[in-house]
Amino acid sequence: MKKVLFVSSEVYPLIKTGGLADVCGSLPPALLELGTDVRLIMPNYQAIKTTEEIYFKSTVQVNRMDVNILETRLPGTQIVVWLVDYPMFFDFPGNPYVDEKGDPWLNSAERFALLCRVAVEVSMNRGYLDWEPDIVHCNDWQTGLVPALLSLETHRPATVFTIHNMAYQGLFPKETCGLLNIPRELWHLDGLEFNGFFSFIKGGLAYADRITTVSPTYAEEIQTAEFGYGFEGLLSHRKEDLIGIINGIDVEHWNPKADIHIAAPYDALSLAKKQLSKSALQAKVALPVDNKVPVFTLISRLVEQKGIDLILDCLPEMLTLPLQFILLGSGDKVFEQKLNDFAKQNPEKMAVTLGYDEVMAHQMEAGADVFLMPSRFEPCGLNQLYSQRYGTVPIVRKTGGLADTVCDALPETFTNKTATGFVFDDATAGALMEVIKRSVLVYGFSELWSQLQLNGMQKDYSWLRSAKEYQALYEQL
Ligand code: ADP
Ligand code: GLC
Repeated sequence: MKKVLFVSSEVYPLIKTGGLADVCGSLPPALLELGTDVRLIMPNYQAIKTTEEIYFKSTVQVNRMDVNILETRLPGTQIVVWLVDYPMFFDFPGNPYVDEKGDPWLNSAERFALLCRVAVEVSMNRGYLDWEPDIVHCNDWQTGLVPALLSLETHRPATVFTIHNMAYQGLFPKETCGLLNIPRELWHLDGLEFNGFFSFIKGGLAYADRITTVSPTYAEEIQTAEFGYGFEGLLSHRKEDLIGIINGIDVEHWNPKADIHIAAPYDALSLAKKQLSKSALQAKVALPVDNKVPVFTLISRLVEQKGIDLILDCLPEMLTLPLQFILLGSGDKVFEQKLNDFAKQNPEKMAVTLGYDEVMAHQMEAGADVFLMPSRFEPCGLNQLYSQRYGTVPIVRKTGGLADTVCDALPETFTNKTATGFVFDDATAGALMEVIKRSVLVYGFSELWSQLQLNGMQKDYSWLRSAKEYQALYEQL
């Protein structure tokens, strides 16, 4: 049985800001089911929420700091989670990346370097936990120093680095590297140095034994200048070690048949009951309760990646169509303001909820007809998968994991029953507007529409298949 230590800055349900947490909370249980001894390590943030007991396990000294390691379980599972407890860094309100006011932590480099150093001690069985992993599986830039630091050890475990998003790299001034006492031998052009800066993500990209990303298409895209952010050369140089494995989803948590948050449970055989969730959603956001009009939704971090600017450009025309638009999100203040203004000017057609609301996300997936995901890039994307499971038809841009998981509604894909949504290519408002119109048109043909819904609902996005791919990768190491 392989022993795998998962390192992540966020894990659902303990703490979540996006899909990274969903993956780190649902892939480990799937691996455990396949017989992998998987454990997790993450920071002990003040905002962590759990009903499980948390107890003291050991103290390690890293970079002259005494750090406690606490132990708990991933809620609802037997999976051990180690929490890196250093109150001076983590015992503050806010999320893993920003403080209470929404400003990025000024000591982000220190915070995540500490996570990495403690993960290295645990990996080398120097954390007094009496457990030695065969593989250390790191996720995103916050964990990038782990493969780099482990490369300096003899008899070390193998390392895997998963890229969930190349756009976030953990880039800091060169001096930070010195301040953090990172060993000098890691500072060079093939090491942690990136254009004169100190790069956390490069620690993963340059030193991990294997690199994975969260969809096959994104694995190709990041080897090009458009998506590689300057790492395309390194990534294509390492293409033999790079593989794209599509994310799965937690099919119990995202299950319209057993979702405790929605008005009435439903499945493919009782799809008509979805209407009850639709009416409840319309009532909740104070839009006219109308079963006939298609409800479009979007749940997202409001950042450029997600194509929010394309939506804003479409809104004047989109809101003239027979549809309603319900949005839940938070992020860029300019986007928030503009979206709110549109909603205020169109109270009969559009409703905006700013903030983060897990329950409402479920209600929107259940209550909507269409889910918008016009991302400029999307390593995998999870909401288009949740949507398909809830019989909500996604509109996506043909990029990354969206291209791999949504099949465009065309005459031939209707005929062979593979159509699950609407796909557009160019990142322009014109191209997005065209698919929005196409979807409204198809919505008018209820038989075609139910076929789209059922095709999506029948797809299997459970973790099993992807977890097996990770397992096969671990076996090679
Ligand atoms: P990313 O990780 O890039 O944000 P994903 O599609 O992989 O994109 O995952 C986003 C996850 O975060 C989904 O589970 C989505 O429902 C959730 N989410 C995003 N914004 C919100 C919000 N404002 N409220 C509730 N859930 C949200
Ligand atoms: C990132 C990506 C998203 C992906 C998620 C989980 O946040 O932006 O596309 O689904 O990680 O892998």
